[in-house]
Amino acid sequence: MRRAASALDYRELARRRLPPFLFEYIDGGSYAEVTLRRNVADLEAIALRQRVLTDVSTIDVSTELFGRKMALPVALAPIGLAGMNARRGEVQAARAAEAAGIPFCLSTVSACPLDEVAAGVVNPFWFQLYMIRDRGFMRDLLQKARGLGCSALVFTVDMPVPGSRYRDYHSGLAGAAGAAGSLRRIWQGVTHPRWAWDVGIHGRPHQLGNVAPVLGKNSGLEDFFAWMRNNFDPTVSWRDLDFIRSEWGGPLIIKGILDAEDARIAADIGADGIVVSNHGGRQLDGVPSTARALPPIVDAVGGALTVLADGGVRSGLDVIRLLALGAQGVLLGRAWVYALAAAGEAGVTHMLKLVEAEMRVAMALTGATSIAAIDRSRLVPDAGAPGGR
Ligand code: GLV
Repeated sequence: MRRAASALDYRELARRRLPPFLFEYIDGGSYAEVTLRRNVADLEAIALRQRVLTDVSTIDVSTELFGRKMALPVALAPIGLAGMNARRGEVQAARAAEAAGIPFCLSTVSACPLDEVAAGVVNPFWFQLYMIRDRGFMRDLLQKARGLGCSALVFTVDMPVPGSRYRDYHSGLAGAAGAAGSLRRIWQGVTHPRWAWDVGIHGRPHQLGNVAPVLGKNSGLEDFFAWMRNNFDPTVSWRDLDFIRSEWGGPLIIKGILDAEDARIAADIGADGIVVSNHGGRQLDGVPSTARALPPIVDAVGGALTVLADGGVRSGLDVIRLLALGAQGVLLGRAWVYALAAAGEAGVTHMLKLVEAEMRVAMALTGATSIAAIDRSRLVPDAGAPGGR
C-alpha cells in the first residue's frame, strides 16, 4: 500500500513505520480490550438511514463550538506522547489541525511543550490537563496555557489511577526497567530506521514536553511513566473543580464522562462541555462503548452544556454516527496519531480531508445538508443504534 484511502490505512502504515513499543501504546487498550473493541463495534453496528432525492448539492460541514467557528465538528484529541510518533509531532499535528480549521488539543504529557506548539501555529489550540499532586505545577501549566491564548481547557477525569495495558508489557514499553527495557526499545528503533532517523536521531525524543522541567536532565521514558504513576492525583474529586475554575476563566470541558449522573454534576458545577469518553478503551475495561453511553447523557444534559464524544472513530461515517446520537462535536484520537506516524503533518491533513469527504457523502445520502440537521432521525431506529435500543 502506497497511499492511504482511509484512517485505517494509516493505521497499517503506522504499524509498519513505528517501533512496536510506540505502535502498541497508541493502538492498544487496557486489560482484555473489551471496551476498545466495543467502541468500534457499536459504532459500526449503527445503521444510517438512507434518504434519496432531497437536493444535496450544497452541504455545509462547519459548526461552532464554545463561541468559535470550526470547519468541521471535529477536534484532535489529546494523546500522551503523540509527538514521539513523528519529529516534533504535536507541532506538526497542530499545524494540520489549524490548516483544516479545527482545534488541536495538546496533552499535559505531550512530547512537545506548550510554548513549542504555540510557536508553531497562529490560532489558539486547546490544552488538556490532568490532576497532578503538585498544585504549583498545575498552576504554572494553566498560567502558561492562558498566557499562550489556549482557547479551551480539557480536564481529564477518568485517570485517577492508570489502567493496565498488557500490550505495553509485551512491547517493552512497560515492565522491564532499566537497561533491559531501553535496549529493547533501542533495538526496535534500529529495526525501524525511518522512524529512527526522523524521531530517534532528529526529533529530540528525550525532551519530554511539559514535564521536562520536573523530570530533570537525562530522563527517559521510564522516568516519564514513573512520574505519571507517582504524580497523578487519586484524591481528585468534584471539589477540585473550584481550584481549576479559580485558575482558568475560559471554556472548561470535562473529559471522561460515561454516566448521566456525572454529566448532571458537570452541568451543575458550570462546566461548558463534557467529552463522553472511556479514554479510547484504555482505562476501565468492561465499561460501555461511548456510542452506547452517549444517548442517555445527551437526554440528561443536552441543553445544559456542550456534549462532545470520542472512542472508536475511524471514519467520517463514525463522526456522523456520534453526531446523530447527539454529540455536538467529535474528538479523533488514534486516527490522527496513525496519520502523523505514517506521514507527519501531510498525513494528518490528508486523513482529515478523507474524514471530511466521508462525512459529506454520508450527509448527502442521509439527506442532511448541515451539521445541525444530523440527529437521531438520520439513523434507522432499533437497527443497531445504541440510542434506539
Ligand atoms: C494517556 O492518557 C494514555 O491513555 O496513555
